[in-house]
Amino acid sequence: MITARTGMDSHHMTDFPRFPPGFVLGAATASYQIEGAAYEDGRGPSIWDTYSHTPGLVANGDTGDVACDHYHRYPEDVALLKDLGVGSYRFSIAWPRIVPDGTGPVNPKGLDFYSRLVDELLAAGIEPAATLYHWDLPQALEDRGGWRVRETAERFAEYAAVVAGHLGDRVPRWITLNEPWCSAFLGYSVGRHAPGAREGRGALAAAHHLLVGHGLAVRALRAAGVREVGITLNLDHHLPATDSAADREAVVRADTLHNLVWTEPILAGRYPDTEEDTWGELITGQDVRRDGDLELINRPLDFLGVNYYRPIVVADAPYRESDPALRVATDNRYAETPMPGVRHTAMGWPVAPGTLTDLLVELKEQYGQALPPIHITENGSAEDDEVSPDGAVHDTGRVAYLRDHLAALRAAMDAGVDVRGYYVWSLLDNFEWAFGYDKRFGIVRVDYATQRRTPKDSYHWYRRMIAAQRA
Ligand code: NOJ
Repeated sequence: MITARTGMDSHHMTDFPRFPPGFVLGAATASYQIEGAAYEDGRGPSIWDTYSHTPGLVANGDTGDVACDHYHRYPEDVALLKDLGVGSYRFSIAWPRIVPDGTGPVNPKGLDFYSRLVDELLAAGIEPAATLYHWDLPQALEDRGGWRVRETAERFAEYAAVVAGHLGDRVPRWITLNEPWCSAFLGYSVGRHAPGAREGRGALAAAHHLLVGHGLAVRALRAAGVREVGITLNLDHHLPATDSAADREAVVRADTLHNLVWTEPILAGRYPDTEEDTWGELITGQDVRRDGDLELINRPLDFLGVNYYRPIVVADAPYRESDPALRVATDNRYAETPMPGVRHTAMGWPVAPGTLTDLLVELKEQYGQALPPIHITENGSAEDDEVSPDGAVHDTGRVAYLRDHLAALRAAMDAGVDVRGYYVWSLLDNFEWAFGYDKRFGIVRVDYATQRRTPKDSYHWYRRMIAAQRA
């Protein structure tokens, strides 16, 4: 395992990992987290507007109403990307800007915004990579059942077709869904994300309909003739808290819900076998799953996007829920515990870069030829940044984090995993969902009072690292 070499003056480090020619080094953001302009140009409300405006759900009552005001400041943000030298920028499209009511008329002003952004990127020599769904579901669709109902998957495919028809010739890389585990389980069973539901069966149905929506969107994107299509999963690397059989079994359960529920249907066209087979039974039992769904979900992809931040150390724990569906959908028969001997970030997440190598190598062993090339579509670290008297942000922890994860990625490639790209999360400090603006992931600091952007040391490090690839 590669361990974090913290304590070194990484600001001046020049031992940059080297990647093959054509390897994509990029940066990522998402619509609700940066855009603001929540009520402008015909944008409809999303479930995150509703959630963040509900008192008590988001830290400090923060909302995405203004965020980084990227909707108005995108030229400045693209200039930051250009100066950084990235080959690609991953952003997401806000569905409620395009189809404000979830169904019915398309809003031309919404399409225009992304069209301007894409043109600005192309003029700067940066390849756009667009995510169609980074969690901002039109509220009107939630009012009709949200991801619990199949109609949402069908509306998603229609929206995908509209956007691809408009931008498909200029955007080479498309991601259908971002981290559907979060949409289904944090959204519908754990309730820590919008829409904040606490349901078992609803969450399992949501997971299935997200997968169906993915399959239908892949079909729509292919019909539009776009170059590359993929999905982004937050695959987790689980480690047992102890060597006990109970903790090792807890790892299997955690792997099932976090990883296999997604990778098995998408890459292998089947559902995972859970210990109680609850997954298949519950969703079949409520007439969610239909003939042909697995074939639809299992359509070939050009790449698999993986978001990776940290390993999860799990210990066996008693169930806290009595409803069998909620038990499955909240994966609450294990408890996450701290990882001994390593630094933890401002999110409380252990820093253990070697686990990224392990995750990718194991994925390759598991799926072999069925595993498409990989893009790391997010990786980064929340730190308690401070602005120094000289105005700079010396975020040495984040520099070390990025350096060591890039080295770990390189190690996975050396071990035979086909990785084509890497996107830092995030270009900007932004709205970190239920944590609001408290957690800063940016390589550029945002002063929310003035909207001033200040590149941090990590930005300068990443810039030199990218430049070193050309040397
Ligand atoms: C993954 C999500 O896609 C992104 O929206 C979030 O900000 C980061 N993880 C950090 O938690």
